[in-house]
Amino acid sequence: MSAEQMKKAVAQAALKYVVDDSIIGVGTGSTANAFIDALADAQIPLRGAVASSEATAERLKAAGYVLEDLNSAGTLSLYIDGTDEVNGDLQLIKGGGGALTREKIVAAASTRFVCIADASKQVSVLGKFALPVEVIPMARSYVAREIVKLGGDPELRDRFTTDNGNVILDIHNMQITNPVTLEQQINQLAGVVCCGLFAQRPADVMLLGQKDGSVTTI
Ligand code: A5P
Repeated sequence: MSAEQMKKAVAQAALKYVVDDSIIGVGTGSTANAFIDALADAQIPLRGAVASSEATAERLKAAGYVLEDLNSAGTLSLYIDGTDEVNGDLQLIKGGGGALTREKIVAAASTRFVCIADASKQVSVLGKFALPVEVIPMARSYVAREIVKLGGDPELRDRFTTDNGNVILDIHNMQITNPVTLEQQINQLAGVVCCGLFAQRPADVMLLGQKDGSVTTI
């Protein structure tokens, strides 16, 4: 089974967590897109959806869903999103698509975070995927120097601006054995808007699409 088919299978499996006529949060990326398509195909009625990026907002709108502002929506019962890596504690590296800040906000404002991915995203130790960090542009060099002190190898994402008008530093070569501590250390650097580690608030449920077409729930 291809990665595309595995994404479709987990997207389909996530539908059972959606309550009709609720307001849900929706993540960003190809797996989240597969979820939006599955939602629309199944004609699941929603009161509205909070998007974690402009791209997701466009796709939800095209599928006929009403977009909600998180400030008016209150606490969301469900957030569905993909990931770049997941470990055994359901801690994640996210932000490969650069939407990490809004993703983290919507995840934080949701009671349940159901993460969907193909099995290739499962790792024992986070860090093979370069860790994205969103940074205010004027702090780019300072934050990069501080990240080097933490043992990482930062690289400015080429010609990329986030939906919030900031830049991304991708941190290579880090074996993240203590994700909660590293998330806190990076978060407290002046100029950092958001770190792509989702460790303090991990996923609550992980659906992993397997090569044989099955979906594993962790
Ligand atoms: C977007 O910024 C990311 O956090 C995505 O959720 C992550 O990159 C997963 O994307 P795919 O579903 O495309 O693999």
